[in-house]
Amino acid sequence: MSEWQKTNWRAKPRVQMPDYTDAKALAAVEAQLSNYPPLVFAGEARRLKQHLAAAGRGEAFLLQGGDCAESFEQFSANNIRDTFKVMLQMAMVLTYGAKVPVIKLGRMAGQFAKPRSAPTETINGVELPSYRGDIINELAFTSESRIPNPNKMLQAYTQAAATLNLLRAFSTGGYADVNQVHAWTLGFTEAEKVEKYREMAGRITDTLDFMKAAGVTQETAHTLQSVEFYTSHEGLLLEYEEALTVLDSTSGNWLAGSGHMIWIGDRTRQPDGAHVEFCSGVLNPIGLKCGPSTSADDLKVLMSKLNPKNEEGKLTLIARFGAGKVAEHLPRLVKAVQEEGANVTWVCDPMHGNTVKSPSGYKTRPFDSVLREVRDFFAVHNAEGTIPGGVHFEMTGQDVTECTGGVRAVTDEDLSDRYHTACDPRLNASQSLELAFLVAEELSNLRTERETRQAG
Ligand code: PEP
Ligand code: CO
Repeated sequence: MSEWQKTNWRAKPRVQMPDYTDAKALAAVEAQLSNYPPLVFAGEARRLKQHLAAAGRGEAFLLQGGDCAESFEQFSANNIRDTFKVMLQMAMVLTYGAKVPVIKLGRMAGQFAKPRSAPTETINGVELPSYRGDIINELAFTSESRIPNPNKMLQAYTQAAATLNLLRAFSTGGYADVNQVHAWTLGFTEAEKVEKYREMAGRITDTLDFMKAAGVTQETAHTLQSVEFYTSHEGLLLEYEEALTVLDSTSGNWLAGSGHMIWIGDRTRQPDGAHVEFCSGVLNPIGLKCGPSTSADDLKVLMSKLNPKNEEGKLTLIARFGAGKVAEHLPRLVKAVQEEGANVTWVCDPMHGNTVKSPSGYKTRPFDSVLREVRDFFAVHNAEGTIPGGVHFEMTGQDVTECTGGVRAVTDEDLSDRYHTACDPRLNASQSLELAFLVAEELSNLRTERETRQAG
């Protein structure tokens, strides 16, 4: 068998990728990018893989979240800070519910390229190529804006590098201190006045007080002041991914240097396609979206291609079926995994199967459907005796009005107020934290149930 090469994907059928018209400009960008340093190190990717392995065994829990599509225009320190902040708050609440460490993995610092359900978009009788993310073309509805421009890869790299730099600073520079994170959460529970969230927040306060009394302080426990924060994105634009792929000298393996984890989308997971080929050769942990059209047979082939050594933590299956469809699809895929004796980490993406068009014309997601899909996901794993390893959300720290529902009830009529996403609707800060409380409650109930079963 010939050894894997980072260019092999070029010989495979590709979908959802742009046809660049200027081959010379593309080649120049690729040459420049491949001289740029990778954004992440192999040791970090391996460490994330170990954490994901723990999540697959039920000894950790994954929180993966961020924008549907990062945007050049909305790039700012405040935006990054606010998403980071709400993810830490969610992680703390989830840690309390799950009683295991929560892995924080941003859809950040590289989440720029978007698969689309249609190649063109028609507005008022005018048909133009679809917007495919800021790394490829522009959202503005003009024929000029929609031409794929390879130079955008350089801007995406620069933005990803600056984002990661700030995330690294926030993670270790004192911003992530547990007491501070909890103080933010108390602000939310005071404002929302929902008794059950207040109660859980109160229990977290007690725990922190106890730790302080027992002498576990910021000075004695450095880990309480800092967090490990990882990055991930869909590895869609393979020219960009290939250019940032480097050989890890310690292991002799290839590292996709664009982020810690890359995932394969629901539209690009053809077993013989370019995306699977590319992801099969890098040492990073890989995510694979599983939707209603994922067949058990395809999943088996994909698992053997993407994780040929059956390593724990290597492959994360991100289930995204839609509320009410989980019971129909998840058990057959869980069975396929069991038949292969495959090591995987199961994660729930309750966003992408629950997108609807609101009466006001906006693409939205009802909070209740999102929550319901997570509950269904837990219920199936509970019934099958398998492990729900984490959750995957499209969310932002901003106070947007893109998904409906939540305690601060966003209605259909509100959607037009602050609808800022360049692609799919995201949970806002309040909805994200609320969801974390509800998922934590669910996790805590599951744990009690499991313990009772084991005792009985
Ligand atoms: C996404 O995660 O933004 C996405 C497009 O998901 P999926 O491939 O599951 O549709
Ligand atoms: Co999306």
